[in-house]
Amino acid sequence: MPVRADLVGLKPYGAPHLDVPVQLNVNENAYPLPDVVVDSMRAAVNNHFSGLNRYPDREFTALREHLVTYLNGVNERAGDTVALEPGMIWAANGSNEVLSHIVQAFGGPGRTVLGFTPSYSMHPLITTGTGAEWRHVDRRDDFTLDAETVAAEVARVDPDIVFLCTPNNPTGTSIGLDVIDAAYENCSGIVIVDEAYAEFSRPAASSAMTLLDGRPRLVVSRTMSKAFACAGLRLGYAIAAPELIDTLRLVRLPYHLSEVTQVLACTALEHADVLLGNVDRLIDSRNRMSEHLAEVGFTVHDSDSNFVLFGNISSPARLWQELLDRGVLIRDIGIAGHARVNAGTEDETDAFLRAIDEILAESPDILAERPTSPPSSTAPSSTTSSSAPSGSAPSSSAPTKGTP
Ligand SMILES: Cc1ncc(COP(=O)(O)O)c(C=O)c1O
Repeated sequence: MPVRADLVGLKPYGAPHLDVPVQLNVNENAYPLPDVVVDSMRAAVNNHFSGLNRYPDREFTALREHLVTYLNGVNERAGDTVALEPGMIWAANGSNEVLSHIVQAFGGPGRTVLGFTPSYSMHPLITTGTGAEWRHVDRRDDFTLDAETVAAEVARVDPDIVFLCTPNNPTGTSIGLDVIDAAYENCSGIVIVDEAYAEFSRPAASSAMTLLDGRPRLVVSRTMSKAFACAGLRLGYAIAAPELIDTLRLVRLPYHLSEVTQVLACTALEHADVLLGNVDRLIDSRNRMSEHLAEVGFTVHDSDSNFVLFGNISSPARLWQELLDRGVLIRDIGIAGHARVNAGTEDETDAFLRAIDEILAESPDILAERPTSPPSSTAPSSTTSSSAPSGSAPSSSAPTKGTP
């Protein structure tokens, strides 16, 4: 195949898609859409069938307005005031496409893109797809990032684009606004803040949107695939200065957002409160998973998202298979000694934790290092924080260079 030389040997994105009862592997929202939303969506789409002979609104005007209304609420709940207007909003088929538009416009051959790994595996793939060079800096052993390190690395690499992900996939780690500012101040390129999981940060943390004023090279990317429970709809969006948003028109395909997508996304946004109604339940499930995993001897990383990264696993591949044999699908994300599981419904969470207990009873050596004292029967305090039980491996099995 006469494929581009720079694509030879690259692996496509490939979370296994298996039909098992408990699917906790791709960070979706575990709850189906409530009937009231489904009914509204059906009614809304009904009115648009006969008009499908026409191309959709290329500028997705109504959707932009709906997104501004939703985001004003997000910022208000965090105690922030951000002056947003429709010209500051971009939307596309999932935030993957949003990110791809940004990297097409500002990356490309001869340009450099920097990320702090482990992070979302599509960031490098989107980068190399445009012919730009992917560079990465490893996060600290506990996967946190601080402003000084980011400032120094960004200044050293001097990239055309920096990716920051908060809360970060696959680690769940959040970064402060100071870290974002440090990246911005130390390069002349575009700073992308991927906030795909922002709605799971509680209490509501300030979004990077609060930094937009006076920072025309900053862009915040978000999605309706996670907290909004609309992964199948494919709707992601970005917020940035109008000049940056304007540039994205150069690389998008004409009419990239179908009429049906626009109508369904507007309807979903009109029901934002209902759709986001399960976020607290998912946070409870996440916390329950974190506490139990820590109690039985795994190391657990603090998470502000709808998934948990846990370590001290002797063989993530074996744990993945043992869980799959019990009907539970999680993600082996390629970080040595670690695996990621996303928060399920209450029942799915029970099933996962039951399977974990069963596996540990049969194969205690699934823990890389066993706790020196027997696991306590009482749950740790309510925090998701989860220091390693004494005697267990530090949470720092060095991340592999690749990005899961
Ligand atoms: C950090 C991050 N960003 C972006 C995406 C892409 O999501 P979507 O294209 O469904 O909006 C994902 C999906 O898992 C993600 O984890």
